[in-house]
Amino acid sequence: MKAAEWDARYVQSELVWGAPPNSTVVEYVHGLDRRVPRLPGPDGQTPELPRALDLACGEGRNALWLATHGWQVHGIDFSQVGIDKGRTVATRLSRSIRERITWQCADLTDSEADFDGPRELVLMVFLHLPAAERRALLRRAAGLLAPGGVLLVLGHHSDNPAQGFGGPQDPGILFTSEDVVADLGADSGVEIDTARRISRPTEGRDAIDALVVATKSAPE
Ligand SMILES: C[S@@+](CC[C@H](N)C(=O)[O-])C[C@H]1O[C@@H](n2cnc3c(N)ncnc32)[C@H](O)[C@@H]1O
Repeated sequence: MKAAEWDARYVQSELVWGAPPNSTVVEYVHGLDRRVPRLPGPDGQTPELPRALDLACGEGRNALWLATHGWQVHGIDFSQVGIDKGRTVATRLSRSIRERITWQCADLTDSEADFDGPRELVLMVFLHLPAAERRALLRRAAGLLAPGGVLLVLGHHSDNPAQGFGGPQDPGILFTSEDVVADLGADSGVEIDTARRISRPTEGRDAIDALVVATKSAPE
């Protein structure tokens, strides 16, 4: 789907994905802010809060949750309508939490788009791109991680149309956890902590998601 199509989808209802964060994100990220090493950045400064990047943040449900749980968050999406909805929800939060979130409208497949690191956490949640673009973005995401930083990739599994529920049906944009591991390759500097197929309860039968959690290795 193009940005304009996502804009049209987001304009239609209050919050398409609901306000609560994705439960798998919560399961894997809760408490990570205290465990993840926080090292000085290129400017020599150690960040006050761990830094997260939410790729394809949509209406910001995960970015907002991260900010309320001690993260400095940068959310990127190419839907300005989605971002504006996230911003509106953020206005209901206290100023100190609101100020932890920055938003950027950009196309993540644009290699010129500027989203810099280092980050202690990078999320890529339910972003479905053609395989070559997914691979390029995943490798870029791995490169943005600080040593010890965590990459969490979650999306509709390739088996979902036949065995699960909802989600996009185009096999060209679905993926397995093995696809993500292969995309990252042996040279992206991350170690795979988890790569598996998971079930997600829905209003119908369970949906099937692909999950990969990887940690950036510390330099030797
Ligand atoms: C299914 S939504 C997921 C939103 C969010 N991650 C969540 O879990 O609530 C997919 C999002 O990907 C965004 N998106 C799709 N392709 C994109 C691209 N090339 N660049 C930036 N955002 C993109 C859409 O605008 C949409 O907000």
